[in-house]
Formats: sequence, C-alpha cells, structure tokens
Amino acid sequence: MSDAERVRHARQLRGSLRVPGDKSTSHRALILSALASGQSTITGLSPGEDVRATSAIINQLGATRYDDENRVLITGPDEGLRASSAPLDCGNSGTTMRLLCGVVSAIAGSHQLVGDASLSVRPMDRVAVPLGLMGSLVHGHGEWVTPPLSVKSPKELRGIEYHVPVASAQVKSAVLLAGLSAKGVTTIQEDVRTRRTTEEMLSAAGVGLVVESVGEGRRVTLTPARPRRHDWFVPGDPSQAAFFAVLGAIHPDATLEVLSVEASPERVGFVGVLQRMGADVRLSTSGEFHVLHSRSSTLQATEIHAREVPSVDEVPILTVAASAATGVSAFREMGELRLKESDRFRASMTLAESLGCRVWSEGEDFFVEGVGSAENFLEFNFASALDHRMVMACAVAGCAGNGCTIEGASTVSSSYPNFFRDLALLQ
Ligand code: S3P
Repeated sequence: MSDAERVRHARQLRGSLRVPGDKSTSHRALILSALASGQSTITGLSPGEDVRATSAIINQLGATRYDDENRVLITGPDEGLRASSAPLDCGNSGTTMRLLCGVVSAIAGSHQLVGDASLSVRPMDRVAVPLGLMGSLVHGHGEWVTPPLSVKSPKELRGIEYHVPVASAQVKSAVLLAGLSAKGVTTIQEDVRTRRTTEEMLSAAGVGLVVESVGEGRRVTLTPARPRRHDWFVPGDPSQAAFFAVLGAIHPDATLEVLSVEASPERVGFVGVLQRMGADVRLSTSGEFHVLHSRSSTLQATEIHAREVPSVDEVPILTVAASAATGVSAFREMGELRLKESDRFRASMTLAESLGCRVWSEGEDFFVEGVGSAENFLEFNFASALDHRMVMACAVAGCAGNGCTIEGASTVSSSYPNFFRDLALLQ
C-alpha cells in the first residue's frame, strides 16, 4: 500500500462484514497461553501488527507458535517463560508494552522494552509505579517514564492493594498479570469500569478472582495461580465495528451490518451515544454472537462523557458523527485522549475543523458544531501521525462525505490491515 491513501465519496454502501478479532482479547489470549503450560489454541486472532508484536515477544520469552489453518497454536514452556537478552519490540502498541511490563516483572532478570516513535513518547509511569510497589524496577525517560524501558525483576514480586488513579484497563491488566506469581493476593480498585477482558480471561484459565462493585467502579482481588491452557475464541473488535456504525449512520444511502462483535457494556458505549444522536444503529443477537446494524440517519448533537466510552478509543469516530450532526456536541473529560497513539484530543478537533466544523476546547472538554450532514463535509487532507484510529476516522469521513487524502495511511495495519479493502467491498 502506498503511504498516502485517497478516499472518494461512495454513492451507496451495502453489505455485511467481519472486522478483525478483538485486539484486547487477542493480546491476552497470546499472553495467557504463553504463561500456561502446554498447548492452547486461539481462533480469530487479530491479524494486526500490534498483536504480531505481542506474539513475537512471547516467542522471545520461550513460548512457541504454530499457525494452523484458522487457528493459532501456542505452547507455553512447562518451566515458565524466561528473560530474553534481546530488546522486546512493542512497535506501535501501548497494550503490548504495558501488559508485557507486568509479565516480565514476574520473570526474574533484566528486560528491555522498545517501541516506535509514537510509543516512545507515551507515559509508562502508570505501570512503573504499581509494578515498583510489587518489587520490580521499571526505568524509562523522565517523569513520564517514556520508552525505551529497562525492567529489573526480582526473584519474587509481592502482592499489593492498588487504587488505579486513571481509568485504564492496561494498568489494571499489567498489575493483575504481575500478581499471578506474586507472594500474596493482589487487589486492584478502579473508579470507572474499564473493559474486563483480563478478569474474564483469567477466570476462564482457572485463576481465582473475586470481583466486587464499588460505586461506579470495581475492585478485583486475584489469588496467585498459573493460568491453565485454554481454547480461546476471539470475537470481532467492537472498537473497529464503531467505524462502520458511524459510516452507516452518516452516509446518505447506507445499510450495513458487522457480524460477530464483542458487546460487553464497557465496549459498546458508542452505540448508546449514537442512538441518543438519533442514529439508526442497534445491536442484535444471533446465537452466541452480536450483530451491529447501521443505516443512514439524521443526527443531532449530544454531550458525551469519557465514562460512557472508557478508554476513549471511539472518540475520534464519534467526533466524525458529531461533525455530521446538527448542533454543538460536547466531549467531556477527554484528557486521556492526549496520551494515545497520537494526541487524539488535538487530532479529533483538527479533523472536525477540516470537515468544516467550528471547534473549540475548554480544559479537558472539547466542542464540535456539526455541519448538519456528511454531504456538507469539505474534502480534506490529514496526516495520521502513526495513529491507526485517526486513519480510519478520516476514511469514514471521506467516504461518507466528499473525499480525503490520508498521509501515513499504512499505519492502519497496527490494528486492521484490510480496512481499505473492506471499505471498498461495501461500495
Ligand atoms: C486496551 C486498553 C485501552 C485501549 C487500548 C486497548 C487494552 O487503554 O485504549 O486500545 O487492551 O487493555 P486504557 O489503558 O487507556 O484503558
């Protein structure tokens, strides 16, 4: 793929598609399989480069991978994972780096973790602090502990009780993964319910967890145990399905379906936001799976709080929905957006502005005055700054609106290598 992608307006959009396997589930399926003894299988693993980075790292740490027709077989060594003298390359993937910090903290010895230009300016203090309390030394650059990282892990970690100061599933997961082989129980408390992928998958692998509700948040207590081998099934990634939900809703002539989507409440908050805006978007069940339906709609502005879409992955594409709406949408408490693959706070505002919207910010909030319809979007150019979700948000805006050119579009491969092919198949 050339690194600049030109997207044209599509006259009509019809069809069903499957998005890649959920990225969060994929990383954890690889990690838990590597930690277990014996062979696990994974069906539906994400083909994205982020997940490839995790896969390459568990190999370096001693697990083996074999690709069967539609499954991946991972064998964890009986004696457990071991330190690698070569750097562990996390590429563009914050999830890989943060989760692996937890994993390698429990492997005695020294480790180095590196990433690309985007990952190298992202804060790792959020995992370095709790892992430090457990007995591991995570060093990086400056106050934010940015990569490259060096991790010095002791013979044995100690369990801790930790209140996560930011809404972050990655931090929660890093601490729980480290807690698997610590001395004593590990308790994590979060004030906002972030995705519970780690907790559910640890339970499925036989690890004892107690989960309690505390106000709007949760407290998770883990008793150390080795995960058991498991046959993992990875459902479709709801954060990828969100791009097609908005595409269908803002395009003037669209009827779309995304099949087999993960639909836990922490992941599909965007559906409620779109429905509140008047979008004809809904989830239905078909057997064990969820299908996301989306059709052309007329949208009204709304107010969105970060709590509704924990981890804020869907905010760039919801900004595109707000841009096509009538009225002023408010995005509240969006500071975490600044710390993603790019500064998505600024990037989302820039995108809305490029589409012709009036935008402004106040502290951690930003506002978008929509242009009333995607038909009114301006044609635009956008530089992706190594951010896969910004690439896809731009492509949706260009396809529903009046076209765009995206510089650095190949970074979409971090999570969705066939995104542009799938978009073309709907036209
Ligand atoms: C993820 C957690 C989220 C999200 C990321 C995947 C995970 O980050 O942005 O795409 O798999 O745990 P937070 O740590 O900010 O919740």
